Amino acid sequence: MSTDDYKRAAALKALEYVTDGMKVGLGTGSTADHFTRALGEAVEDGLRVIGVSTSVRTEALARECGIPLVDIDAAGQLDLTVDGADEIDPDLRLIKGGGGALLREKIVASGSNRVLIIADEAKMVPQLGAFPLPVEISPFAWKTTSRRIRDSLSRFDVGNVAIALRRNKNMSSFVTDGGHYILDCDLRRIGDPQGLAAFLDTLPGVMEHGLFIDLASAAIIGGASGVHIIRPEGSQLPLL
Ligand code: 5RP
Repeated sequence: MSTDDYKRAAALKALEYVTDGMKVGLGTGSTADHFTRALGEAVEDGLRVIGVSTSVRTEALARECGIPLVDIDAAGQLDLTVDGADEIDPDLRLIKGGGGALLREKIVASGSNRVLIIADEAKMVPQLGAFPLPVEISPFAWKTTSRRIRDSLSRFDVGNVAIALRRNKNMSSFVTDGGHYILDCDLRRIGDPQGLAAFLDTLPGVMEHGLFIDLASAAIIGGASGVHIIRPEGSQLPLL
């Protein structure tokens, strides 16, 4: 089985947690796309749900799949969000934003009763940071914001400090759906994710960052030995 098969297996498992009448947040990325397509097939078979997309790209796919969509402002609190991740640690802290949708993803996840993270087993890591941390920033004064981040990173027990402005293949600056830039921070290891998240939350110019802490209700992981569900330690919240 390939990595893509593992992603799809996790997505199909997540579909079991969707029930009639739910308002569902739709994540962004190749794993989330599997879920959106599977949800579209279930809608075709009669399941009634309302979707809230986390990106322009997911919105287009959901429309193609026949999923009724509403704006997050009209939807209010969501029942469930299903999304992918770039890294997942044993406490279900995440790095997200590889696909550049972190701002909308975090807004949608934080407005959901439950958040299921779907991924292939390679995304599970003992410690966050091998994947460069995406930080979404205002284009205004982006070099200043980048410098302020760089000058502070060593306070958070990181293994390296290298920051790159995300670029498209033609080398133009990558611009998010919200019109912002992304800094990819290669840190190798993030020893203090909570501290780093708190710092970035308050830094002017930072619109959002890819550390998702205390947001995941469970991770559904597809791998060579099947699909496994990982819950945060001590979590009592029923998944259904
Ligand atoms: C997009 C994300 C994605 O969930 C993350 O990049 C994982 O992508 P994929 O499922 O393609 O591996 O955070 O902003």
